[in-house]
Amino acid sequence: MSRPLLQLALDHTSLQAAQRDVALLHDHVDIIEAGTILCLTEGLSAVRALRQQCPDKIIVADWKVADAGETLAQQAFDAGANWMTIICAAPLATVEKGHAVAAARGCEIQMELFGNWTLDDARAWHRVGVKQAIYHRGRDAQASGQQWGEDDLARMKALSDIGLQLSITGGITPADLPLFREINVKAFIAGRALAGAANPSQVANEFHTQIRDIWGE
Ligand code: 5RP
Repeated sequence: MSRPLLQLALDHTSLQAAQRDVALLHDHVDIIEAGTILCLTEGLSAVRALRQQCPDKIIVADWKVADAGETLAQQAFDAGANWMTIICAAPLATVEKGHAVAAARGCEIQMELFGNWTLDDARAWHRVGVKQAIYHRGRDAQASGQQWGEDDLARMKALSDIGLQLSITGGITPADLPLFREINVKAFIAGRALAGAANPSQVANEFHTQIRDIWGE
């Protein structure tokens, strides 16, 4: 298993606040995500500004696209994103369109998994050429008490067996990481645990220590 990366999710309601946290955390994370909340608040300029601030980082446009896969992928990648998310409920045609734009530019689509999806859906995304999925516990589900369980771990393993690289998100903290020790994780995506911390770089270091202890150097 390869060592998981650390992704900073920016779900701020102001670009200025997001960029302040990027300045603090830039050197402590591998991937920067223009979160859904930030992008709905600030639009495409959020992706452009993050690309300018972090010229060498992987940037994700977490748009959870449900339709117009081609147009939105063009917008996201033209603005400087490397990866764009499509929601698992989107029709396969949207995934195909988004993926075609991504592949032509050396970019990638990530399927956002929450709510209802099946392993047959995952096989179809993989057949289309999509390489990545995000296993997601939504923040509202988390707030209403949803915990990580054996069923989640079994589905994560099944997704890996299909050939999808898996990132994991949804209220993740460093203390949660041992739960996923048997999973081949592409990246842990953390928003509030990092951006909301009193000492963000210290929490990032705690993530990296856990990652090294569990998955090795
Ligand atoms: C919400 C998201 C978030 O960006 C992601 O879940 C990470 O945020 P947090 O760690 O605060 O849950 O995609 O839909």
